[in-house]
Amino acid sequence: MNDRLYIFDTTLRDGEQSPGASMTKEEKLRIARQLEKLGVDIIEAGFAAASPGDADAIKAIAGTIQNSTVCSLARANERDVRAAGEAIRPAKHGRIHTFIATSPIHMEKKLRMQPDQVVEAAVKAVRLALEYTDDVEFSAEDAVRSDMDFLVRIFDEVIKAGARTINVPDTVGYSIPALWGERMKQLIERVPGSDRVIWSTHCHNDLGMAVANSLAAVMNGARQVECTINGLGERAGNASLEEIVMAVRTRRDVFSCDTRIDTTQIVPASKLVSSITGYPVQPNKAIVGANAFAHESGIHQDGVLKHRETYEIMRAEDVGWHANRLTLGKLSGRAAFKSKLTELGIVLDSEEALNAAFARFKDLADKKREIFDDDLQALVSDEGYGTEHERFKLVSLRVCSETGEVPHARLVFTEDGVERHAEGDGSGPVDATFKALESVVQSGATLLLYSVNNITTGTDAQGEVTVRLAQDGRVVNGQGADTDIVVASAKAYLHALNKLASKRERAHPQV
Ligand code: KIV
Ligand code: ZN
Repeated sequence: MNDRLYIFDTTLRDGEQSPGASMTKEEKLRIARQLEKLGVDIIEAGFAAASPGDADAIKAIAGTIQNSTVCSLARANERDVRAAGEAIRPAKHGRIHTFIATSPIHMEKKLRMQPDQVVEAAVKAVRLALEYTDDVEFSAEDAVRSDMDFLVRIFDEVIKAGARTINVPDTVGYSIPALWGERMKQLIERVPGSDRVIWSTHCHNDLGMAVANSLAAVMNGARQVECTINGLGERAGNASLEEIVMAVRTRRDVFSCDTRIDTTQIVPASKLVSSITGYPVQPNKAIVGANAFAHESGIHQDGVLKHRETYEIMRAEDVGWHANRLTLGKLSGRAAFKSKLTELGIVLDSEEALNAAFARFKDLADKKREIFDDDLQALVSDEGYGTEHERFKLVSLRVCSETGEVPHARLVFTEDGVERHAEGDGSGPVDATFKALESVVQSGATLLLYSVNNITTGTDAQGEVTVRLAQDGRVVNGQGADTDIVVASAKAYLHALNKLASKRERAHPQV
């Protein structure tokens, strides 16, 4: 029988460390529910000590999720561990993941600690974490650049202190598969008590090898992989969950382990994370990219039509490509709408929110005959559900755009409930809309990214717009969806301004 490979998803923690990807509590809950549906073993729900808001989101996830372990990250100090312990208290299965850096450069320049002090702090943190749960994980940050003898020593000590999972991170994405596999093998051979723990790997993608390195670790004994949906994460991201899971499943002949992931939930999870964080998925991304199963050349198409396996090593439906079902139509009632939202893991906690979403749905059904699951996900995100405070809200938009003429936009929006009017010219209708808004709001924010994606196919599809704004060192992503992409753009811009307006101070675990 194959070993179990545990999937530890850190989309809500390491993934959220991507610029602009910060999520509200409700958005995190929606993703956590989907991760549970996907069959993820451990959900790293956040870093509790970052802010009271982060701790609250972890607590809410811990109180909701039943079938996955809910975990909080904690630096190896008393305040962090206690914050993590309190946040996971409501969980049916809760884990504390404590870490400290072990490489000479991190210990000397960042921590300003001697190796002996680092070992002492790690052991203390593990012991303290055991007061809250018997499921404690320890990570040696920057293990890739750490001395092997020191890693053996610290892992030996934390295992003796009671850690059950030992995670070996390539924090800076520096390794290559042969070396990473060898490092895992040597650690398992050399650390006393290594047979009493689960060995884990956590790889970043700076050299594009996060998945390859993680799989090399698995081939050498790791039985937990830390990864994110769509490979989301700081800089070049983390190892991508979908690639790890499908590699292990597709190459059962090579890997002597398997996961309990329901692979048909992969594409819905990918779309949800992309739509909530505003990080689009590149079309040629393995497994979840729009072209991942599209056959362009005639020769390939001919081969696939004659015998599917000629060019396909996986089936699109096995990863959930056809799960985007036609859901509702113009005549669907409120009860059907509500029950569909529940099926999608969307819980609107007030009648008011449900009514607003239903009105939006009816409006959309008037413009677009067929409403799919993805339309509903976008609609709920777009409705502002989960936004703590909506300072700005679009009321109406009129844009004139004609060949040979300068595009002109006129908007009405509310600021804290007060109606405001804006007008502006631009090089195109979107530019005119943004300039009009800025002429009134005067945020001074810099536009870092503007992107449009269609949510479903066809020219009547909703366009989903992402706007990334930077202001005083803070970066936020705003999203908007509409069948009119200029309207979607205005909503996305206002959504980003709302996020900038809700000042959220939070600590970064690794700085
Ligand atoms: O990359 C890393 O080292 C981390 C640790 C906190 C596990 O994210
Ligand atoms: Zn990381």
